[in-house]
Amino acid sequence: MSNLIVLGAQWGDEGKGKIVDLFSEKFDAVARYQGGHNAGHTVFIGSRKFVLKLIPSGILRPGVSAIIGNGVVVDPAALLEEIHALEAAGVDVRSQLKISNRAHVIFPFHRTIEKISEGRENRIPIGTTSRGIGPCYEDKIARRGIRIADLVDNDFPKLYCALAEDKQLIANAFDIAEPGDFKEILEQYQRFAEEIRPLACDTASLLNGMIREGKSILFEGAQGTMLDIDFGTYPFVTSSSAAAGGACTGTGVPPTKIDGIVGVSKAYITRVGAGAFPSEDTTEVGEKIRRAGNEFGSVTGRPRRCGWFDVPLLRYTAEVNGFDSLIITKLDVLDELEEIPVCVAYEVDGKVVTQMPASARRMEAIRPVYERLPGWKTKTQGIAQISKLPPAAQTYLKFLEERTGVEIGSVSNGPERNETMIVPGSKLEKLLQ
Ligand code: GDP
Ligand code: IMO
Ligand code: MG
Repeated sequence: MSNLIVLGAQWGDEGKGKIVDLFSEKFDAVARYQGGHNAGHTVFIGSRKFVLKLIPSGILRPGVSAIIGNGVVVDPAALLEEIHALEAAGVDVRSQLKISNRAHVIFPFHRTIEKISEGRENRIPIGTTSRGIGPCYEDKIARRGIRIADLVDNDFPKLYCALAEDKQLIANAFDIAEPGDFKEILEQYQRFAEEIRPLACDTASLLNGMIREGKSILFEGAQGTMLDIDFGTYPFVTSSSAAAGGACTGTGVPPTKIDGIVGVSKAYITRVGAGAFPSEDTTEVGEKIRRAGNEFGSVTGRPRRCGWFDVPLLRYTAEVNGFDSLIITKLDVLDELEEIPVCVAYEVDGKVVTQMPASARRMEAIRPVYERLPGWKTKTQGIAQISKLPPAAQTYLKFLEERTGVEIGSVSNGPERNETMIVPGSKLEKLLQ
């Protein structure tokens, strides 16, 4: 069995949670490597719906270890709320979950700072999830953050007071009255620490030890490559490394131990929040997709912007991640369409561009070039083999495969675990053996 990274090939919400839950049966551990409770990974098990935010989707498989890696930012209140909700649903969280002692801690003032920054006059808001993710990563990079190891240490009050003073100074300098009661937060976090202490450990050492014993790890990406801090549509991105490289820096597992990288992509594309979106469809057809795909954010409930499969974008994310295989989800959402546009090229300022523009201005200026493929106008949900899909659906998938240059190793045609087809003989099938 191999160590596999599964991550989003678009702007998030590609169906990673469903895929990771399905694959986790074959792995010993599932590890999250970045992001925080800005993620919303939906898993259906029969009629039961779980939306996992911070805890890896592997938690739903008894006996599978769920690891929150050092690259993740942890809001203790959100973490404990999620643990308690899963426990109420009968999941044995505490025997499966481990949290890196090097992961950074989100405090309420991170959310306050984000709110002020997003609401500031003359700023184009990013449309964040308002979870304090960005400001927490800012503190991490500025080398003043507080980590889980600090939270559970006797020194926590001292470290916390230093950070809180820092925030108070900024608040005073900018005449901001908002920051809350720092002392109350300290006491609350000391209570959280008691519950978190038994779960905290050196997860890099744990994961590498498992690998030495021949066990296999599934790395679960959050967000998507186009939201990656380096490779996404900056500045309209999240503050972490969602791309494949983040799996190593975010867990401490070296690149030499990674056996495969799998991208998850919808058969179309969505985006939540602001930023360039070349193949967005703002007509009633886009609205139809939103309804058919139930495209509303799992975390914030915001309507997701909908558009067409974007080949240049996928080629770009395949390149920076090195996808071995691609999983196409939500094929069934396109079932009723007469024809399906696919964005096959970008034009900027009248010229075809072959590289993803780096500047926000050029990203916004992209004119998508479309080819239109016939729809299949047949229900695909319930079909269990790719060869049984309507011919037009098979042609559509072949088209995506040829144009992106990445094998399609699996197709998902419904939210349930069993509504997933693996292509026989594919690289993906081999990676899962
Ligand atoms: P994630 O963030 O990548 O895990 O994705 P989300 O959970 O935010 O959004 C994906 C949504 O699509 C969830 O509601 C899933 O239950 C649903 N979903 C996943 N795969 C399929 C599929 O093949 N067909 C349909 N109709 N829904 C799917
Ligand atoms: P999953 O893991 C889709 C988006 C936000 C915003 C930008 C920055 O479910 O795919 P942040 O709060 O992270 O600072 O917001 O990133 N965003 C997501 N969009 N799926 C997600 O996660 C997202 N997590 C953040 O909407 O545009
Ligand atoms: Mg999501």
